[in-house]
Amino acid sequence: MTEAPIPVVKVRMPPRESLLPALERVLYSGMIGEGEEVYALEREFAAQFGLPNALAVSSGTGALHLAFVTCGVRPGDDVVTTAMTAEPTNTTILQVGARPVFADVEPDTGNLDPDAVARAITPATRAICVVHYAGYPADVRALREIADYHGIALIEDCAHALGARDAETAIGTVGDAAIFSLQAIKHMTTGDGGILTVRDPDLLDAARRLRWFGLSKGVPRTEVDIQVAGFKYNMNNVTAVIGRQQLLTVDDAIARHIATGRYFDQAFGPLDAVQPARVRKGSSPSYWLYTLLCDDSERIEQALIAAGVTASKLHRPNHLHTVFAPYATPMPGLSAFYARLLHLPCGWWVSDQDRERIVSIVADAVT
Ligand SMILES: Cc1ncc(COP(=O)(O)O)c(C=O)c1O
Repeated sequence: MTEAPIPVVKVRMPPRESLLPALERVLYSGMIGEGEEVYALEREFAAQFGLPNALAVSSGTGALHLAFVTCGVRPGDDVVTTAMTAEPTNTTILQVGARPVFADVEPDTGNLDPDAVARAITPATRAICVVHYAGYPADVRALREIADYHGIALIEDCAHALGARDAETAIGTVGDAAIFSLQAIKHMTTGDGGILTVRDPDLLDAARRLRWFGLSKGVPRTEVDIQVAGFKYNMNNVTAVIGRQQLLTVDDAIARHIATGRYFDQAFGPLDAVQPARVRKGSSPSYWLYTLLCDDSERIEQALIAAGVTASKLHRPNHLHTVFAPYATPMPGLSAFYARLLHLPCGWWVSDQDRERIVSIVADAVT
């Protein structure tokens, strides 16, 4: 019997013995909508990942939409953003009626190049949206300076970067708002779900109302008054129970991503024909995916696949989609990055033996 290939992403569920009783309790509790389980998840998530606060929502996409609206992005505004990301980073900019302005990325990280961002800013720019692509922290402090200089917002899309750190601080604490995704294949999943965190505590209440039609929870429905129309982005107690169970084991899972990411950095570093994505000095990636750069990425991908290891580019640069084509600009950094990009599996499911084998397949393919 041939073994299943090692996947590049994988769903991680908490142990049955603890998850199922917890789920049963909430399912028959009579309170499955937004309630105490959601609020407990918010407190625990914020404490575990060093965030000032956390608002649990139905998806990372919903969290991004809330982040843009809460940070004051309005129809007709420009948001300087990256095309080297999953699509929701940019579909949500269109969703608020704003215009994505693509700035180039660094060819050795895939993350926004602060100089390109600075050049892309005009009086119409209302915000910068940065993605910590594949879990490698972008230069968020340089972007913070640019945002402050222009008096605009900085939004961090940390969907790939749970558990990453920038210098001494947790990822997601430098932007005015930051989001995390709890979608199926992320470091931690609730099936679908997301977290929004905001730096200014005054914005938290506004975001909380926006996640629930614009209504204040807890005020009798006959007395409450909608002043700004909101959305239906709340998380529910059933999802939150899965999230709370995930939190009990996610640190170990992230530690394993990091251990294998560092192992690959060391193993691939000395090889001439391949180059690990650059880890910015002082930062600590959480390696949702391992990013290897190589001139012959196609050949290495085929060698890995033939040996039962899934490897791929995973994402499509967003400006290549028809919907984003009107915003496309020349991005030589992105073109160079994408041509050389190959994502390798490096998550909790990759054993010591697997990772040794991956290194030797790559080494053999390039010699
Ligand atoms: C970079 C990035 N941003 C945002 C999202 C949206 O998250 P979700 O799938 O939870 O809506 C994703 C997830 O696919 C993502 O990869």
